[in-house]
Amino acid sequence: MSTTILLTGGAGYIGSHTLIALHEAGYQPVILDNFSNSHPAVLERLERITGQPVRVERGDVLETPWVEAVLRRHQPVGVVHFAGDKAVGESVANPLKYFHNNIGGAVSLLRAMAAVHADGTAPAAPTLVFSSSATVYGDPASVPITEDFPRSHTNPYGHSKLVIEDMLTALRTASPVWRVGVLRYFNPVGAHPSGLIGEDPADIPNNLMPYVTQVAVGQRPYLNVYGNDYPTPDGTGVRDYIHVQDLAAGHVAALQALLGGSESFTVNLGTGHGHSVLEVVKAFEAASGRPVPYAFAPRRAGDVAQCYADAALAKRLLGWEARHTLHEMCADAWRWQSGNPNGYRG
Ligand SMILES: NC(=O)c1ccc[n+]([C@@H]2O[C@H](COP(=O)([O-])OP(=O)(O)OC[C@H]3O[C@@H](n4cnc5c(N)ncnc54)[C@H](O)[C@@H]3O)[C@@H](O)[C@H]2O)c1
Repeated sequence: MSTTILLTGGAGYIGSHTLIALHEAGYQPVILDNFSNSHPAVLERLERITGQPVRVERGDVLETPWVEAVLRRHQPVGVVHFAGDKAVGESVANPLKYFHNNIGGAVSLLRAMAAVHADGTAPAAPTLVFSSSATVYGDPASVPITEDFPRSHTNPYGHSKLVIEDMLTALRTASPVWRVGVLRYFNPVGAHPSGLIGEDPADIPNNLMPYVTQVAVGQRPYLNVYGNDYPTPDGTGVRDYIHVQDLAAGHVAALQALLGGSESFTVNLGTGHGHSVLEVVKAFEAASGRPVPYAFAPRRAGDVAQCYADAALAKRLLGWEARHTLHEMCADAWRWQSGNPNGYRG
């Protein structure tokens, strides 16, 4: 039986960490990526960490016939679909890019998977793990958030995730042979403990941790803290930060469950605990020994006060739970950033 797993978007932040976790669990990962938001230098780093050549298919997930050819060539028993665009602000400014690449990319991949299953080329039932996001909960009425909370969207990025989730449900209804694991990530941060791979935003970071690390390394003068009048203990927004290594392990657990015959599922991947912006700043200063100057700025439209997961379902269904502490998230993020101030471009 093949142990090959195709990772669309596998050269990106979460995909690259997942590749290592899959390798360590005995799978043979293959990356499919167009490098629109990643750098080929990650491949050599991955080879150093795994001690093996990395298999890569360079191209666009929107090209259905090519994706089909990739599936026929590698015969994966499962696919993890990371490929997509993820910048909330950009999605508001350029919604068609998000509907085209995210929804169009998912349609293209699913059609290619369906085609190789239909003609009997696929080695197993179509098995997919999809990168969804806590953004599908919109502005939750309460915390912690369980998977049965109502879903909504506040921007085209979130809308695209919601549509893809619905598409997967419709597909399973039409064709129950599909095995689908939808993973709703909370806030992935940190880096591989080697310091060789990590998050490498091409532009001004949208997320807190890469911004904090860029301030600490001197690339930006200070951190803007958006809102200090939220109904939270210190007034700043509270989020569920999860170490990217834990997230990567969650993908291995999801694939093992699906390939072991489990029903399809939708689960939160979070720690179940929230940390405020100021707590993250303090933890990062402690882990790095560097000051992180900050200034309060007005709340940003669309930001919510608190967002953290109820992580019990993933533990029950997959036997998975997050293990890394906030200190480890900060220490690993710092090791990556301080060793690679210009990311992969250095
Ligand atoms: N990072 C987060 O905070 C977060 C949170 C929730 C969900 N997610 C989702 O997880 C997935 C991975 O996120 P990430 O942080 O690793 O992002 P990333 O941008 O680092 O990785 C995405 C990868 O997909 C590739 N890609 C994009 N469009 C493609 C296309 N048409 N064809 C082939 N490759 C393409 C990019 O080059 C990149 O390597 C995304 O779907 C994202 O929406 C991320």
